Amino acid sequence: MLHNAINAMPVGASPLIRIRDAVLEFKIGKAWGAKRDLRVLDEISLDVNEGEIIALLGESGSGKTTLGKAMLGLHPLTSGSIKVAPPKAAAPRRQDAHDLQMVFQDPLSSFNPRFTVGSSIALPLRLHLKLSEEAIVERLAELLGRVGLNAGFAHRYPHEMSGGQLQRAAIARALALSPRLIVADEAVSKLDVSVRAQILNLIKSLNRSEKIAFVFITHDLGVAQFLADRVAVMYFGRIVELGPVDQVMDSPRHPYTAMLMNARKGQAPVAEEAKRSAKGCNFANRCPRALGKCHDVRPEVTAFGDDHEFRCFNPV
Ligand SMILES: Nc1ncnc2c1ncn2[C@@H]1O[C@H](COP(=O)(O)OP(=O)(O)OP(=O)(O)O)[C@@H](O)[C@H]1O
Ligand SMILES: [Mg+2]
Repeated sequence: MLHNAINAMPVGASPLIRIRDAVLEFKIGKAWGAKRDLRVLDEISLDVNEGEIIALLGESGSGKTTLGKAMLGLHPLTSGSIKVAPPKAAAPRRQDAHDLQMVFQDPLSSFNPRFTVGSSIALPLRLHLKLSEEAIVERLAELLGRVGLNAGFAHRYPHEMSGGQLQRAAIARALALSPRLIVADEAVSKLDVSVRAQILNLIKSLNRSEKIAFVFITHDLGVAQFLADRVAVMYFGRIVELGPVDQVMDSPRHPYTAMLMNARKGQAPVAEEAKRSAKGCNFANRCPRALGKCHDVRPEVTAFGDDHEFRCFNPV
């Protein structure tokens, strides 16, 4: 049974988003043939707190984008819940602010090529806020300024801008309705190294000065370390380790996280076919530390200190 479980939390609850036992299955298969369920999110529980940056790490196909989209309500869950805290009454915010926004990897394809960048950024303002034309022009200049672009960029078309400039514009568009969280999906991976650093600094300053929370999806451990307060490591639909970024990176407990960290130091990861299994640990057939029961029993979440947790029977 599919149901969209996104709904409001009681006022005063502290996390911005509370995800509990989120399961998401896609029906796959030929239109005329047998369909099967592909479990892409598997018992995900995660809080995203106000104003923090969480890096979501994990290899291709592990479900990072799907989880990001599910947070925004773009994918209905098969079971479990995703709850978004209501804005605090005292905060000086507009009533109709859209709290959750997403920024994608490829800024060129995320803008309509037939519109100027200014009209794309202004679109949410026109749709959701009853502003005069004058106020929209003013707000547009302010948004562009916040991401380090001068107001003249409003008149350019997407193909007239560099990748870095366009990604700044995409962030300006995400900021238009004063979100409390931006999910950034590989938002710097297509950019040159120097431009990448600028965008990362921009994200960090938006986070620090405006308390906007980010879920930053990346393959890049260096990016995660630079940017994030906490890191969640995904492996085929499950969060296998979650904790403060330095702790997880310096002392990983899950063998998959340890493998990622070793790969970074130049030791190649074990290349073996990954398995999505309903039973046991998904990583078991690739894991150098696997015990017999790892193939049969799903590891529950083990807490390690106050804020570090992992799913493993035989942690590092
Ligand atoms: N709409 C969909 N219908 C069916 N399967 C899907 C759909 N979207 C994603 N998937 C599958 O779900 C799994 C997770 O995909 P997802 O895009 O979330 O991975 P990811 O971690 O973001 O990978 P990448 O690092 O390559 O972006 C993949 O096996 C993918 O093929
Ligand atoms: Mg992805």
